[in-house]
Amino acid sequence: MSKADNHIVVIFGASGDLTYRKLVPALFDLFAQDLLPDRSAILGVSRTQFSNDEFRKKMKKGIATFANFGKKSNDKIDEFLTSIFYQTLNTFDPEEYGALKDRLEVIDKKIGINGNYLYYLSTPPNLYKIIPENLAYHKLNKQGKTIGWKRIIIEKPFGYDLQTGKALNKDLLKFFKEDQLYRIDHYLGKETVQNLLVTRFANGFFEPLWNRNFIHHIEITTSENIGVEGRGGYYDGSGALRDMIQNHLLQVAALVAMEPPTTIDANSIRNETLKVFQSLRPLNLHNLKHHVIRGQYTSAKVKGKHQVGYLEEKGVDPNSQTETYLAMKYFIDNWRWGGVPFYLRTGKCLPTRVSEVVIHFKPTPHALFVDNKDFCNDGNLLVIRIQPDEGILLKFGMKVPGTGFEVKNVNMDFHYSDLKQTYVPSAYERLLLDAMLGDATLYARGDAVEAAWEFVQPILDYWKSDPDAHIYEYPAGSWGPEVADQLITEPEITWRDPCRNLAGDGEYCEL
Ligand code: BG6
Repeated sequence: MSKADNHIVVIFGASGDLTYRKLVPALFDLFAQDLLPDRSAILGVSRTQFSNDEFRKKMKKGIATFANFGKKSNDKIDEFLTSIFYQTLNTFDPEEYGALKDRLEVIDKKIGINGNYLYYLSTPPNLYKIIPENLAYHKLNKQGKTIGWKRIIIEKPFGYDLQTGKALNKDLLKFFKEDQLYRIDHYLGKETVQNLLVTRFANGFFEPLWNRNFIHHIEITTSENIGVEGRGGYYDGSGALRDMIQNHLLQVAALVAMEPPTTIDANSIRNETLKVFQSLRPLNLHNLKHHVIRGQYTSAKVKGKHQVGYLEEKGVDPNSQTETYLAMKYFIDNWRWGGVPFYLRTGKCLPTRVSEVVIHFKPTPHALFVDNKDFCNDGNLLVIRIQPDEGILLKFGMKVPGTGFEVKNVNMDFHYSDLKQTYVPSAYERLLLDAMLGDATLYARGDAVEAAWEFVQPILDYWKSDPDAHIYEYPAGSWGPEVADQLITEPEITWRDPCRNLAGDGEYCEL
């Protein structure tokens, strides 16, 4: 694999948790695998005062605690730390960016970078416009053959609703071109999410079945077994719809539903995912009442420990109407998916941490083996486990050896962990490396982000305008409000329970 050009990664918000837990550990992991170019540096930028040494010391701890290779190589960590620098900056003040420019020039000259800078906005979203504007004020957005490339990664949330999402796109495009913008959605960096593309498009036998003729419905679940964990202040202004559905789950669902791209490049793939967003059946006041259920966790004893309810969490308004759980049903109005329901659900304080895509195939048109108590003739299941225990599970009926025709469901189960010497890189490793290489395939394009906002906006409007828009309580540690079962209207079909389902796929159960 070819290496990226020499470059400097400039992290804004460098004193924050993301830098400490994810970004610098991921950069170190790339370094430990020799995936960085010969010459590269990291410049941490934020308002907090740090010397280079103080910042390095903090990053060393972050690497030792969170990097995949952090335990193995102390010398390597020290070597890596020599390429980390720090600059104190009041991000609001345009004049201070002059000092940033000077600092970049010094590092650039010292190391020999030629002006390639990858900016990373790991800051509160109110700075997403200000930083690019101030960079542009000092021409730090200008690129060219002799002055190097400039790229900018923007963390979520990308806007707060349709209007602010559009406004942010417009603002960013004043200072950077679309091909310089990398809107990060860390779910797209997950190995198993990318494997969705390979599963679908590298295997001849899935694609002919991947449509309304053979698929009954699709379920995508991302559950977490923790609460808001000290992020109450942020989360209370966001909620599950903005935090997980508008970005992560809709992006994953788009990869499940997209048409085969003509090539595996950024534009082909992003054109196809955009078409999915554009084909989502719009929600309106009439249908969304029956298609969207929101919930909020209440206090409960979970695994012997007391979990406080959402309204008692630090930073949360005690009268908050913010949802910590959301389940929804929607349709994609195109030829491939006409009539196939898609069910999404996500929540905090659910029984386990799991993300999975479940493809429910239609049952056989005629049930021959009806007398088998243990055989569920509801159709075959393909479960794509995104995390943890990454892998793929196929469930189908097999004859029990012996007389008669006794049928049982069995599992064909692939676990990534069964492969020898498999290293599953973190999402940030993959995404940072792609941005260094100038590959935006796994980053969201502006039009797709807007289309996703367009789809969820009626839900936000409804919640805001209708005092009767119910928010259901659910005890922490349960699978959310029971009323969410009613989204699936067909008898005998329920949400798949990733913990309690049939033998063989309950490994990540934490109940
Ligand atoms: C983040 C959300 O984007 O994704 C968090 O802001 C959530 O609230 C997290 O906990 C989940 O990510 P992962 O990779 O742990 O599934």
